[in-house]
Amino acid sequence: MGRVRQGLLGVALVGGLVAVTGCGSSSASTADLAHGKQQFTALCGGCHMLADAGTQGAVGPNLDDAFGAARAQGFKVNGMRQLVETWITMAQPPMPRDLVTGHDAAAIAAYVASVAGTQPQSAVRPTPPPDPQARPVKFRT
Ligand code: HEC
Repeated sequence: MGRVRQGLLGVALVGGLVAVTGCGSSSASTADLAHGKQQFTALCGGCHMLADAGTQGAVGPNLDDAFGAARAQGFKVNGMRQLVETWITMAQPPMPRDLVTGHDAAAIAAYVASVAGTQPQSAVRPTPPPDPQARPVKFRT
């Protein structure tokens, strides 16, 4: 966990080298992921929805939505993990910077990267079915 923080280029390189296996594995241990989930729920869930954690926060983006597209495009777990860690240290307001550091931050990042966007439909905020009554919007000029 005490690795030197990498820049975005490093993220891309690491992401490209690491193959993702079926269970979305990363090098984090099960204990780290459990710790990360617990920390996420306590510290981040008030602002972020994440289906796996069952959190409902609506101040920040739904992380399943935020990472679902990246995952679908083949973004690797380790890359997403680095991105979450980067967000924790360089968050934009109103998200507080350095809410967690060190091992806790790494565990949260590993947890989020392992679950965010893995469920086709967010259990927390499912995509509504198209409304058959809806009329196409027309812009008049
Ligand atoms: C006070 C509310 C708040 C808390 C607490 C918070 N966030 Fe955020 N977070 C936000 C907001 C708001 C944004 C969007 C900021 C922006 O886009 O400028 C955000 C953005 C993010 C993003 C980027 C999402 C994207 O669309 O790319 C990630 C990842 C993230 N937060 C993770 C976390 C993690 C992990 C924690 C816990 C350590 C956390 N946040 C705690 C409010 C919060």
